[in-house]
Amino acid sequence: MTARSKTTIVTGATQGLGRAIARTLTTLPDQHVVLAVRDVGRGAEVARELGGRAEVRRLDCASLTDVRRFVAEWQGPLHGLVNNAGVQQVAGTRLSADGFEETIAVNHVAATALTVGLLPRLEGGRVVFIGSGTHNPENRTATIFGFRGARFTSIEALARGDADGPSDRQRGFDRYATSKLLNMLTAMELARRVPAERTAFFTLDPGLMAGTGLARTAPAPVRLLWSTALRWISPLLPDTSTPERSAAAAAWLLDDPDVVARSGEVFDFERKPSRRVWPAARDPELSRRALDETLALLGTSLPA
Ligand SMILES: NC(=O)c1ccc[n+]([C@@H]2O[C@H](COP(=O)([O-])OP(=O)(O)OC[C@H]3O[C@@H](n4cnc5c(N)ncnc54)[C@H](OP(=O)(O)O)[C@@H]3O)[C@@H](O)[C@H]2O)c1
Repeated sequence: MTARSKTTIVTGATQGLGRAIARTLTTLPDQHVVLAVRDVGRGAEVARELGGRAEVRRLDCASLTDVRRFVAEWQGPLHGLVNNAGVQQVAGTRLSADGFEETIAVNHVAATALTVGLLPRLEGGRVVFIGSGTHNPENRTATIFGFRGARFTSIEALARGDADGPSDRQRGFDRYATSKLLNMLTAMELARRVPAERTAFFTLDPGLMAGTGLARTAPAPVRLLWSTALRWISPLLPDTSTPERSAAAAAWLLDDPDVVARSGEVFDFERKPSRRVWPAARDPELSRRALDETLALLGTSLPA
């Protein structure tokens, strides 16, 4: 780390997209990368893989106590925050340390708590949320796999785990798709409330990246398909990518000087405004509710 270094935190950087983003960032000049991970042993392995050009810090996004500790311990300015840590829980309802449904807790509530908590450190910085085309009920690729889009009722109900899907798998898919809608709405709403020159907020829709750890709670045959055949077939499907390709887009959002003026936008892995955003997600009332209800759940407000 040099005096000119720009520090960027990547959550969930032990594997998949997060690890690829960390790797890409370490190839840029003057970037100091912080791997914010729940398993520091695996984080240390990744740091070694990156030639020691990254620092490891413990962060368990399934615990608000741990998110608050991480924020309280943070010293100094930040250039970037990538809210990448995510789960897709399809094997029944699991609760976070705070008693919230795990998917919403990790993917959305922790990401919002971290962002709001670190906002005073992010003067002139950027925050990237990771969205997904699964939020959109009209997305063909997602519906082929069984997604039926986001179902945003209220943050309180989602945190309680309320869901109306007919199976664990469907409820898991619904919760995941909803959490990804909430990531996007949060970035849009923060961009409305915070001037871009103070902090810019983006959503990256990374496309379908078969083979990552995301399918880990799926039944064994699905996991096998996800890590083998689907990796070969996916280039034939629309909107598919790889962690490396999508990581390059994330690094661009963190590095390009001109993109700041586009705070609030959803970009795809080709660095273009995403065509996969559900038109209903553009309703400002929806994003206002997503942020205000989450801040109420967290018992906090945006710093002045
Ligand atoms: N793969 C896709 O097709 C796809 C498509 C659209 C969006 N995304 C999004 O991309 C992001 C990365 O997913 P991925 O596909 O790369 O999956 P992945 O390989 O499973 O990576 C998820 C990362 O999140 C971490 N994580 C999970 N729970 C955590 C917690 N409680 N605290 C801290 N870290 C936690 C995992 O850590 P451990 O190693 O400790 O488990 C892992 O490093 C997610 O936000 C996902 O929604 C993925």
